[in-house]
Amino acid sequence: MLNVLVVDDDQAQRLSVRSALESSKKFKVEEAFDGTNALEKINATTTAGRQYDIIILDVDMPRLNGLETLKKIKEIDPGIIVLMLTAHATVEVAVQAVRDGAYNFLSKPITSEELIDLIDKAITAHTLISTLAVSSPVFVDEGRKIIGNTSQMQKVFNVIHKLAKVETPVLIRGASGTGKELVAKAIHFNSSRKDGKFVAINCSAIPENLFESELFGHEKGSFTGASERKIGKFQYADGGTLFLDEVGDMPQLMQVKILRVLQEKMFTPVGSNREISSNVRIIAATNRPLEEMMKDGRFREDLFYRLNVVPIYLPQLADRKDDLEVLINIFVKKFNTVHNKKIAGVSKDALTVLKKYGWPGNIRELENVIEHAFVLESGNTIGLGSLPEGILEAVGVNLVETMEQIQSQSESLKSSAQVLSDEEFDSENGLDVDSDSDLDLGGDDESIEINMGVATSGALDFNAQKEEFEKQFIIKALKTFKGRINQTALHANIPKKTLLRKIEKYGIVAKEYAETKN
Ligand SMILES: Nc1ncnc2c1ncn2[C@@H]1O[C@H](COP(=O)(O)OP(=O)(O)OP(=O)(O)O)[C@@H](O)[C@H]1O
Ligand SMILES: [Mg+2]
Repeated sequence: MLNVLVVDDDQAQRLSVRSALESSKKFKVEEAFDGTNALEKINATTTAGRQYDIIILDVDMPRLNGLETLKKIKEIDPGIIVLMLTAHATVEVAVQAVRDGAYNFLSKPITSEELIDLIDKAITAHTLISTLAVSSPVFVDEGRKIIGNTSQMQKVFNVIHKLAKVETPVLIRGASGTGKELVAKAIHFNSSRKDGKFVAINCSAIPENLFESELFGHEKGSFTGASERKIGKFQYADGGTLFLDEVGDMPQLMQVKILRVLQEKMFTPVGSNREISSNVRIIAATNRPLEEMMKDGRFREDLFYRLNVVPIYLPQLADRKDDLEVLINIFVKKFNTVHNKKIAGVSKDALTVLKKYGWPGNIRELENVIEHAFVLESGNTIGLGSLPEGILEAVGVNLVETMEQIQSQSESLKSSAQVLSDEEFDSENGLDVDSDSDLDLGGDDESIEINMGVATSGALDFNAQKEEFEKQFIIKALKTFKGRINQTALHANIPKKTLLRKIEKYGIVAKEYAETKN
């Protein structure tokens, strides 16, 4: 028996919730007539060593309102599950309540089944989260592991392990590239459904008029262009997991239909009068602010609460930079295989830059940057020169200061007759970076000092130096991509127009590099 306290100033409402709960014979119900009365009862039971498991709390009440009561309850015992129930739900209040620790927010009127169903879910989620074990690594599928040693990721792993054991819907939240799809796969492949299919559907990529048919299938001739009968994703994924990616972009009408499948586990193909049952676990993901979208009606509240049984929040890479090195090592290993190279790792300088960068595109961006560097790098360590220009710029690698510094070094070298000959310089290709040099990231202007080869002619002219650098860089990139303009522009991170302009300016003939090897 679970102990429930129903808090409402409206006696009729208390009674209706009470009888709904008592009909299921799973709950022992007590009542409180407002917030203050509820706190008195909670304090009394806590001192008596007995506890309420669940509190169902009205929002509008005299003396102490629901939100204030919620805060106080959480101070007394953060472990009590609180469900807010109100006739006048505003999304602001709902969002605030959930932030303050309420498990969910329900609108009156609510049927007994709905109420009991939500309580069951709350208990499942609560037990899951409160009995977190020491986490072990999460394998997505054979050989693929989710990387993360930071405490934020350890929490995520814990929840994944627990979620793999139950059937509840999951809502994965996180910015672009934080690993939402990877986590969805991890839940599927660690669950009892792992032998079923993992079917992903990107809700932002499907035209609205095809959505329904894509999910539920259609009968032959049910609309123009439907020349064959087609099975929808819900049927295709039967026995497995359906991943609704970018669920925040799902058209409104589809939101209603999905809600129905979630509730009834049945759907009807377009143009058909047969109902089909489907045994599919739903995992949804989004990087959209669903709370805001609910406010202006773009995302349905009822669907949100259905999906949000156990939410997972994936941290931004910038908030877990301690994982950066291990992620880099994983990607280096991966691309060594893909590109058949033997790169040992990232130079100290490059690592310092990568650690300083903000990673708006998160792990996906990191993966792309490492691949980009793999393609450009001709040595056995990824140096600064192989990192995309955008990243160097973003972290403030200061070319002006670097050039000045190098010039003064080169002046002093000249005076001691140790300057590079032109020939030696050419062989350096103007790009090589001393990977052992220390980076100075301190300093007031947060600039990074790097060493790079420079033109010996025009040694005191900044523009001449910069141009020589650009020219050599473009030549090197063109060689790497066999003179192909589009590829060079893409991987060297130069807008195509700029690249073409510079090629013309420096009199470079791209074709000459069509067959050269670097
Ligand atoms: N923790 C991790 N360990 C290893 N690789 C990861 C991790 N997180 C993400 N990745 C890799 O980063 C890339 C992006 O991950 P994923 O596609 O899951 O992100 P996403 O959140 O779905 O991104 P988007 O919002 O852009 O769709 C994938 O190649 C994935 O394998
Ligand atoms: Mg994704």
